[in-house]
Formats: sequence, C-alpha cells, structure tokens
Amino acid sequence: MDIYIRDEQPGDIDVIAAIARAAYLANSHNGHDGHQHRIVDNLRRAGALAISLVAEIEGELVGHVALSEVDISDGSTGWYGLGPLTVKPGQQGRGIGSGLVRAALDRLRQRGANGCVLVGDSSFFRRFGFVYDPDLMLGEASQEHFLALSLRGSGARGVVAFHPSFFNGC
Ligand SMILES: CC(C)(COP(=O)(O)OP(=O)(O)OC[C@H]1O[C@@H](n2cnc3c(N)ncnc32)[C@H](O)[C@@H]1OP(=O)(O)O)[C@@H](O)C(=O)NCCC(=O)NCCS
Repeated sequence: MDIYIRDEQPGDIDVIAAIARAAYLANSHNGHDGHQHRIVDNLRRAGALAISLVAEIEGELVGHVALSEVDISDGSTGWYGLGPLTVKPGQQGRGIGSGLVRAALDRLRQRGANGCVLVGDSSFFRRFGFVYDPDLMLGEASQEHFLALSLRGSGARGVVAFHPSFFNGC
C-alpha cells in the first residue's frame, strides 16, 4: 500500500472537511465535542493554516493534518501547533496518521521551526518524540494531553496559545 502525502490543493477542501467530520464522529466517545471538524476551515479562512497536508491512497484522499503557528508567553517564535490530524474511518490503523505526523514534522524541520505542540494521546504521539514538557503550559485546557517536541534551540517556556480558530465559530 503506497501512501502519497502532498500539500492540500483547492479541490481537496470539501473532502478534507468530510474526512474530519467522519473521523471525529466515529471518535465522539473520546470526548470530541462535534465541532473540531470546523477548525481547519476556520484556520484557512483566517489565513493561519501554515501547512496543510493530505494523504492519498490510489488517488483517494484518506487523511489530513494541519499546522498553525502558536503564541508562547515568553515571546518564542517558530513554534507550531499540530492538528487537527484526521484519518478516514475504515482506513485507520494502517500507518496513515503516523505518515502524516512524520511528514508534518519534516516540513517543520525544513522551514527551520523551533518546536511543535499538540493536544493528543501520548501513547500515539510519543513515538514521534512528543513528551510532556513542564516548561510549557496550555492556558485554556487541561495539561493531561498537552505534548511538545523541541526541534531546535534551547526550548521555550511559558503559556501556549493556539490560534483563535481553534475556539471561534465552532
Ligand atoms: C488518531 C488518528 C489520526 C490515527 O490515525 P491512524 O492512521 O489510525 O494511525 P496509525 O495507523 O499511523 O497508527 C495507529 C496506531 O496509533 C494508535 N492510535 C490510533 N488512535 C489513537 C488514539 N486516539 N489514542 C491512542 N492511540 C491511538 C493505534 O492503536 C495504533 O497503535 P500501534 O501502532 O501500536 O498498533 C485516527 O485514529 C483519527 O483520525 N482519529 C480521529 C481524530 C482524532 O482523534 N485525531 C487525533 C487528535 S488531533
């Protein structure tokens, strides 16, 4: 099975939204509130979708990952939030999500990013190097699933704020 990962194109936008809707609906037992599928559209509209990658298998879009810049209270720059990350139900568990995370991190390294944060399950994300970082705090929500990966430099310290698109208009 070949997974092809590439930048989103304008013609992908509706499919990306449909994958997110289906993925979050299928995982609604995990505490998703039914609005996360709108985040990517919100980010795109706000011009804040820094990197948006899709995964294709035999020409069909099966997954998506977004990256957007985050603010950190110590003034650190070059830090990005990874997410949403979604894989079409029925295609999960085949390495597509992992491929998207690795490709997203490659892109961040290529652009000289300093680090990446996300809210997610550590049992999945630790395989890419994400860890709980006591120097970084997420202002609005619980720390339980807040993970970070320093890519360059000496790290950052402070309160992290995701783009307002994660909360507005949902
Ligand atoms: C999370 C998600 C993107 C993973 O995609 P995927 O293509 O199934 O992932 P992969 O096939 O690369 O990896 C599967 C591995 O991750 C684990 N995994 C998948 N989802 C997980 C979750 N929510 N929590 C913990 N582990 C998870 C699987 O058990 C499997 O582990 P293994 O490799 O040890 O067997 C997908 O399940 C999804 O779209 N979920 C709904 C949306 C969501 O919750 N996104 C994450 C928050 S941003």
